Amino acid sequence: MTANLLSIADLGAEGIEELLRLTDSFVEVSERRIPKVPTLRGRTVVSLFYEESTRTRLSFEAAAKRLSADTMNFSVATASVTKGESLRDTVVTLEAMGVDAVIVRHASAGVPWQVARWVDASVVNAGDGCHEHPTQALLDCYTLRQRLGSLVDRRIAIVGDVKHSRVARSDVLAYTALGAHVTLVAPPTLLPPSLEGWPVEVSHDLDAVLPKVDAVEVLRMQKERQTEALVPSLREYTATYGLTRDRARLLGDDAVILHPGPMNRGVEIAAEVADQPRSVVTRQVANGVAVRMAVLFLLLASGAAP
Ligand code: NCD
Repeated sequence: MTANLLSIADLGAEGIEELLRLTDSFVEVSERRIPKVPTLRGRTVVSLFYEESTRTRLSFEAAAKRLSADTMNFSVATASVTKGESLRDTVVTLEAMGVDAVIVRHASAGVPWQVARWVDASVVNAGDGCHEHPTQALLDCYTLRQRLGSLVDRRIAIVGDVKHSRVARSDVLAYTALGAHVTLVAPPTLLPPSLEGWPVEVSHDLDAVLPKVDAVEVLRMQKERQTEALVPSLREYTATYGLTRDRARLLGDDAVILHPGPMNRGVEIAAEVADQPRSVVTRQVANGVAVRMAVLFLLLASGAAP
């Protein structure tokens, strides 16, 4: 069976730990003068992105290149999809060219699973609709561990548009697998219709939660996925749920701020809060490359030395 990374749930606590350990060695590679190893020479990694992306696409590309893989890039705007080609035909075409891994992002939940049924190559979910984004969760865990050490019994708040956030879903699974306690903070309209089975607490009072947490992860308002007005106005949202300068003062001295990007400065997070030393937003991006190297290594080259 081909190895894929579709959901954080596929990894479990042990799989996450293994990937985080592997990431250490790729952080070390990334810090070298020439940050490149020959591990995936002769292998081909293709990005199949049906949704826009800056960080994730470039990060996978950098990861594949640092492992010496060949990379191919498919982006919808310039591809035959605009001529009506189906997802299946596109994927089968790619496979016929001999690819070893397909990195998939799509606006519909479940597409990476579908792609995995059609191809022999390894498939990595780089974000499917509002469902999951496992490599983001891995890099968030890695970044938090760098700052906080173990996540066991740490308290983490995830704030904002949880309803549309694949990052939130993957993060909840990953953080709780590593022993953290998660509180979702959002207006009821920005929470999923049912939280049954989610191992989380819920609050609508950000001011009450902030002093108690070791980390706060701020989510982007996903206006492109909102089909109706879910908050009275962005100004009101910011006033109640935004991480403003005054609110950030409620955090403990060592508490950390995360944001998966792209940030709407002035909406969910104040510009100057995003730039505070306690904010690890750029660290998340840097770690993202090493985490994705670890993922590609594990899927395509396990058995070899990193
Ligand atoms: C996230 C995504 O696309 O799911 N961004 C990312 O991958 N870093 C979050 C978002 O778009 O808000």
